[in-house]
Amino acid sequence: MNIGNTAAFLRCTETDCSTKYPISERYYSCPGCGGLLDIDYDFQLGSPPDALKSTFASRKLESEPAYRSGVWRFHELLPIMPDVSRVVTLFEGNTPIYEAPLSSEYCGLAGLRFKHQGMNPTGSFKDNGMTTGVTAAREYGAAAVACASTGNTSASMAAYAARAGMEAVVFVPAGRISYGKLAQALEYGARVLELEGSFDDAMRIVRELALETPLYLLNSVNPFRLEGQKTIIIEMLEQLDWAAPDWIILPGGNLGNCSAFGKALHELSSLGFIDRIPRLAVIQAKGAAPFYKLFKSEDREKLIPIDHPATLATAIRIGNPVSWPKALRSLEWTNGIVEQVSENEIAEAKAVIGRDGIGCEPASAVTLAGAKQLVSRHIIERQASVVCVLTGNLLKDPGYTMDYHSRKLRLETPEGERMILVTRANSPERLPADKAAIRRHLKL
Ligand code: F0G
Repeated sequence: MNIGNTAAFLRCTETDCSTKYPISERYYSCPGCGGLLDIDYDFQLGSPPDALKSTFASRKLESEPAYRSGVWRFHELLPIMPDVSRVVTLFEGNTPIYEAPLSSEYCGLAGLRFKHQGMNPTGSFKDNGMTTGVTAAREYGAAAVACASTGNTSASMAAYAARAGMEAVVFVPAGRISYGKLAQALEYGARVLELEGSFDDAMRIVRELALETPLYLLNSVNPFRLEGQKTIIIEMLEQLDWAAPDWIILPGGNLGNCSAFGKALHELSSLGFIDRIPRLAVIQAKGAAPFYKLFKSEDREKLIPIDHPATLATAIRIGNPVSWPKALRSLEWTNGIVEQVSENEIAEAKAVIGRDGIGCEPASAVTLAGAKQLVSRHIIERQASVVCVLTGNLLKDPGYTMDYHSRKLRLETPEGERMILVTRANSPERLPADKAAIRRHLKL
């Protein structure tokens, strides 16, 4: 594989291994010890950080298509071929950062912002990593790509594979992903295999298949994915004039994003782009919180998987997250923390984000619920600057939203069914098609 002006290589993240491999090797984990792999760099940036910051910004106006991508305009910090015209892009990234008065008031913060990754081409943050992942797949000469998914990864991979003319095979837990996401994968032409099992089963099987067959694995164990996801942080800092916020709050599922965010912050700080590192707060849903349990335990050597994860935030219904060692490293780099929130808290926070005119899918709303909890416990100060990352678009899971507003939201757990508390329902009002009746109803 051809790399541009920066030398990139693979390196095992297990500290007592740390073996380096050339980037041309198609590895998903260390062939020596089985540890997760990083893409690491001998950075030769050629310009000081301030000059590069201007270059990044000016590229938005360039005619080169790859530079209209909010991922590839940062290519000095990524592994990339010298010829940017070879990238597979849907002009991902360049997502907005919003102020949100109702949400700020709700959680008691003076300065809360949302970085909305749901405004990406396929509606989730996965696009930032899929452009780099599918570009790598093409460079390796792969004809078919594969992933296990709770929905968003499959939608994104299917779209980028279609753009690249590759076959896509997705493995999803049958009946447990939202229709919005399933519909996308089908429409983009992926082969969708609905497995009678959990996401964690699908993940285990696809990892094994990728080692035994030509299928190229595009879950977030693939280090190219995480390099693309680093740009969520780079772009966020650019939008804040490179003044780091105090906290960045994100949902935790398979823990790829936490891994990518920590790496981005570590590299940006080492290279002199920022002079302090924001703290990461990873939020999990209470019924699917193995990383929270690890964080709270004395012994952080081994994550204990959860056999029956239960949450209506199906995107993060994951019991055995593959990237936990890298995510733990991110917490060390950023003095980060992990918190968990209940289904009631997620549902209410999601409705509040909607009332700010922004909206998101359930998994993203854990961020506001987490912010509220952390402020009330004085872990985050009221005056702190905080950015919550909204990972998926409201339209990804209309079923959840409709059930919420019609007070039908219920969660099935191993212990039985439980209704979710609805505090802000906005139900449709049915009326005869009669003007006088409508005027009476609206008191007009
Ligand atoms: N938010 C959304 C909307 C997601 O789709 C995911 C993960 C996460 C948060 C958690 O991110 O895994 O990096 O910790 N979705 C994956 C999928 C698992 O298959 O779409 P993470």
